Amino acid sequence: MAIVDFDTAIETPPRPHSPVHGFGTLAVHAGSPHDPATGAVIESISLSTTFAQSAVGKPIGEYEYTRSSNPNRTNFENCIASLEKAKYALAFSSGSATTAIILQSLAAGSHVVSVSDVYGGTHRYFTKVASAHGVRVTFTPSIELHIEDLITPETKLIWIETPSNPTLSLVDIRAVADIAHRSGIMVVVDNTFLSPYVQNPLDHGADIVVHSVTKYINGHSDVLMGVAALNSDSLHERLRFLQNAIGAVPSPFDCWLAHRGVKTLHLRAREASKNAALVAAALQDSPHVISVNYPGLASHPHRKIALKQHRDGLGGGMLSFRVKGGQAAAEEFCKTTQIFTLAESLGGVESLVELPGSMTHAGIPVEQREAAGVFSDLIRISCGVEEGLDLVDDVRQALEKVVVGAKISNGNGSANGHA
Ligand SMILES: Cc1ncc(COP(=O)(O)O)c(C=O)c1O
Repeated sequence: MAIVDFDTAIETPPRPHSPVHGFGTLAVHAGSPHDPATGAVIESISLSTTFAQSAVGKPIGEYEYTRSSNPNRTNFENCIASLEKAKYALAFSSGSATTAIILQSLAAGSHVVSVSDVYGGTHRYFTKVASAHGVRVTFTPSIELHIEDLITPETKLIWIETPSNPTLSLVDIRAVADIAHRSGIMVVVDNTFLSPYVQNPLDHGADIVVHSVTKYINGHSDVLMGVAALNSDSLHERLRFLQNAIGAVPSPFDCWLAHRGVKTLHLRAREASKNAALVAAALQDSPHVISVNYPGLASHPHRKIALKQHRDGLGGGMLSFRVKGGQAAAEEFCKTTQIFTLAESLGGVESLVELPGSMTHAGIPVEQREAAGVFSDLIRISCGVEEGLDLVDDVRQALEKVVVGAKISNGNGSANGHA
């Protein structure tokens, strides 16, 4: 028996999510009907900004104007809805635009509770933009412990990142959602770091799951895009309205590229997780490393949450670690790797390394940053899908060079951090 009925897939609109098919099958086929006119297996890129009408107010098909919707965006959204086990998905021009639109949906005077170590751009939006629109955000380093005390009558939304960026701490989504829902508060989970392959937050009680598609979902470091997936009809209606009204929408070409990228998400996410587990183990064994943050390690303080929330207890492709020798050693490490490229971003097929305190999280005041564990010697790594042992060798050779360099400069009398 065929897994997917290709003939009916041509005629019937794709189902948002099928409980009988596994992730890989959905990634390849959801939102990917064959072209009914030509039979083309891969959708064409629909660049037309407008769509003909047979009479006034009677579009020939389901589309009118590309900002409101277009075939490539619909197909991509259907695919993501399926992978996040959601009824709906909405695509935006970036992960940041996705955050902005969710915050815009709140009335002035609303209060939000967020984890402290959110992505720097999310922190910037919360503190510098949302506040200007009368939305107040309180940050907490341990949301499961403090949520009940932080909720006020104005609290409308809880914002979680799990794993957090860049410290890779985990939040028990169900524990937070149960408390939030008792007060009618909505829970949003930024699932960018794990991708829908490793974690499906709606299964654990979240109301909205968001992604920077720029990362794992597209996976090839060549598209900037965001997406939100959800089940509520009324919330979908509100966010769909804002998607069109604000117009922060992705181009059809970007939707097409991201849709092509997501078809291999399961393969990439598995390989990246496998590689990150190898690198994390090597770092943990190194005498040059102070500590390693990786939810795939048995020693991770939230390993139990990973076993509950992540597919097969996978740790994902991201990790961070503190190197001996302070910021100077950390900067040297980032310049010394040969396979890992020194660059911001994550989730692509190629491995990347960066220094959050000086790069992605530089905008957060230093006391707040350090309180959240983002020290100046903390290095963040995104493992790609290269050969795992090559990545381990690269990290080891970089550590050796950094340590030898530190010894030489100390011998010359120049201080080198706090090794
Ligand atoms: C966890 C997380 N959320 C959201 C964003 C914002 O996404 P974008 O860069 O697509 O606007 C990023 C970007 O790095 C991120 O890492």
